[in-house]
Amino acid sequence: MIVLENVSKSFDGGTTYSVQNISLHVPRGKLLALLGGSGCGKTTTLKMINRLIDPSSGRIVVNGQDVRQADPVQLRRGIGYVFQGSGLFPHLTVAENIAVVPNLLSWPTDRIVARVDELLAMVNLPAGEYRERYPRQLSGGQQQRVGFARALAAGPEVMLLDEPFGALDPVTRDELRAEFLDLRHRLGLTAVMVTHDMIEALLSADLIAVMNAGKLLQLGTPHELLANPADDFVAALMASPKHQTEKLQALTAHA
Ligand SMILES: Nc1ncnc2c1ncn2[C@@H]1O[C@H](COP(=O)(O)OP(=O)(O)OP(=O)(O)O)[C@@H](O)[C@H]1O
Ligand SMILES: [Mg+2]
Repeated sequence: MIVLENVSKSFDGGTTYSVQNISLHVPRGKLLALLGGSGCGKTTTLKMINRLIDPSSGRIVVNGQDVRQADPVQLRRGIGYVFQGSGLFPHLTVAENIAVVPNLLSWPTDRIVARVDELLAMVNLPAGEYRERYPRQLSGGQQQRVGFARALAAGPEVMLLDEPFGALDPVTRDELRAEFLDLRHRLGLTAVMVTHDMIEALLSADLIAVMNAGKLLQLGTPHELLANPADDFVAALMASPKHQTEKLQALTAHA
């Protein structure tokens, strides 16, 4: 479970706010999609949940624990993070990238080796072929798979994903999204996923949060946001998939 209570972040000592007074609640096992335009504060919000960024004010609770009181290494063991882009360390091999958190936790070597192979199998990359490669020797989709494996390494209950499918072609994107949703259900993960893709949010998420200029405009189920958008911004966002579908239908009708 993830709870944000009146969370704000200013990077300039309070002159401007990148995130302003956000409160939200993601129940255990649910997926929240965080939507909004570029620069509206999505990544900042995500990074505050695992303390990559400290809030200026407000409270964040993950699985019953106030994150300010948690030991950062223990906290990140329980929270997998998939970075915008793949965020892999370029000078580390696939295996070393995946082993970053297990190493921080001082797991014995044989346990780490076994876990890396297990995770590579989970994200459909044959370990023998990929374990020793460097990120530059992988396609974007393969890098993203390694990013997932790394986030899952220590068996987290919570996953934070920053536009995990953003840089992929549509076919790879659909495939990887389906695999992730399947993994999420199997592992019972509670997740927050940043996306720009309205259709992705509507089809994958239990809850959608719409942000604009640092503020939370609305939080609800896909159905609630479609049926009762809080304002014109949310209404326009919700209407965009329908408009796209109508344009596509018009095109096919004339084909
Ligand atoms: N470390 C930082 N120092 C100063 N300002 C920052 C810092 N990190 C983010 N910001 C500012 O905070 C605002 C929100 O940034 P954030 O990265 O959260 O946006 P975003 O919604 O993730 O955008 P995008 O969709 O482009 O990734 C931006 O105006 C950004 O310039
Ligand atoms: Mg971002």
